[in-house]
Amino acid sequence: MGMISNKMQDAMNAQVNAEMYSAYLYLSMSAHFSNANLNGFANWMRVQAQEEMFHAMKIYDFVIERDGSVILKAIDCPPIEWGSPLDIFKTAYAHEQKVTDMINNLVSLAMAERDFASNSFLQWFVDEQVEEESTASGIVDQLDMIGQSKEGLFMMDRELGQRVYTPPAAAE
Ligand code: FEO
Repeated sequence: MGMISNKMQDAMNAQVNAEMYSAYLYLSMSAHFSNANLNGFANWMRVQAQEEMFHAMKIYDFVIERDGSVILKAIDCPPIEWGSPLDIFKTAYAHEQKVTDMINNLVSLAMAERDFASNSFLQWFVDEQVEEESTASGIVDQLDMIGQSKEGLFMMDRELGQRVYTPPAAAE
């Protein structure tokens, strides 16, 4: 198997950065929801940010395990101003679709490099992205359905407040 190639290492490091940016993005959304007194939505986004940090650290650990160098770069600022809950979850869904593309590109690179260990490692993320997209799009659909209903929003806030962070590895 051997050491990770420079090209694969750089691509993995870029993904560590992208996952940390995802955490930033969801934290920014969480802070906005807290200020809007939608504490369940805020909780959900905060748990999502924790998941993203887990994703980042999972890749970080893999780079080290493969005798690569973890090179941390600056994390972009997420937006500060946010629209309606529906707009926010549409943004989250679009973001997850972008992350799926990134993961797919990593898989393509691993295959091109005949890096079977990276390819195998990345399959966890391929599966995870199916869940990430489906969860985000499910909430978009629910928000779409409740429309302008304050009761609907209140009920969803209560539901999203139930989410608890479980490290994926421990849950398996
Ligand atoms: Fe780390 Fe939401 O994908």
